[in-house]
Amino acid sequence: MNVLITGGAGYIGSHAVKILLEREYNVSVIDNLSTGYIDSVDKRAKFYNVDVRDKSSVIKVLLDDHINAVIHFAAFSLVGESMKVPLKYYDNNVQGTKVLLEAMSEANVKHIVFSSSAAVYGEKTVMPITEDTLEIPTNAYGETKLAMEKMMKWADIAHGIKYIALRYFNVAGAFHTGEIGESHNPETHLIPLILQVPLGKRNNISIFGDDYDTPDGTCIRDYIHIEDLIEAHILAMLKVIDTNKSDIFNLGSGAGFSVLEMIEASRKVSEHPIKAIVTGRRAGDPARLIASSEKAERELKWIKKYNDVSSIIASAWKFHQLHKEGFSNENK
Ligand code: UFG
Repeated sequence: MNVLITGGAGYIGSHAVKILLEREYNVSVIDNLSTGYIDSVDKRAKFYNVDVRDKSSVIKVLLDDHINAVIHFAAFSLVGESMKVPLKYYDNNVQGTKVLLEAMSEANVKHIVFSSSAAVYGEKTVMPITEDTLEIPTNAYGETKLAMEKMMKWADIAHGIKYIALRYFNVAGAFHTGEIGESHNPETHLIPLILQVPLGKRNNISIFGDDYDTPDGTCIRDYIHIEDLIEAHILAMLKVIDTNKSDIFNLGSGAGFSVLEMIEASRKVSEHPIKAIVTGRRAGDPARLIASSEKAERELKWIKKYNDVSSIIASAWKFHQLHKEGFSNENK
């Protein structure tokens, strides 16, 4: 089977590329390398430096490589940035998805799995969050992901493109060999930033607020390992092809960990004291986000391999020790 992965040079996309290749899928990748790294793309994939908004190039890849299904990751994903430059997010995320759906329609490719986000829900008080929770995004990033989902719904009705939207909670960790992992520039995510302390790249980790209404006062998140996340994409792809029915699933672990708990777990994994200092709250951070993934477990038969945050952090630690400077695009 031939699969096109958009955004295949990004953190999540590059793991999808590698894992699909291991399962003997034929993998084509498009990525404009605006935030991704060519070094992270497995050399066995067919790589095209193509922007998802470039319709004729996308159609060419879909037809030339006889693509059967698309997994769509290409998007900007920084909540803070999305509040400063929302139109950049609408252009890449919403316009990019629109062009991709047009290209799929013209090339007669009818199945897509795509990355949505817990950010579509906004600030909620009832945990865990199920898929029928009302979506009220509180930032522009979440709003673009919800717009992408809605667009898929209408493209399904009009053009018969069947989709599965996967709403990720906090994706973390690295491929078990340490070959690829999370590398953003600038880095904003909690685990890579914590691990920069034992790597000697920063003196301390900042805790963004300890006055939230949580047991230790720091924000609680639901961390899901990248390999478990990709497994769910493969199951979703097979499901949407098999049933020809569109659907939406949360992907998380169902367990919440506070920022302080993540720092403490990282101290144990890295055997480093990791100095932490409390700073002010980061704008837009909900106090708690915990997923119910029961629907994915039940309907996709999704079984997670990583069930504790220590093993998730350990995989990230392995990657960061092997790639102290992250990835680059020098060879592009
Ligand atoms: N945090 C700190 N210090 C840091 C970095 C983060 O205390 O230096 C805290 C944040 O305030 C937050 C938690 O650690 O409470 C996790 O922060 P991340 O930036 O790692 O992740 P987010 O929960 O903000 O964002 C994630 C995804 C987004 C997605 C969002 C859904 O990365 O793409 O979940 O709400 F939109």
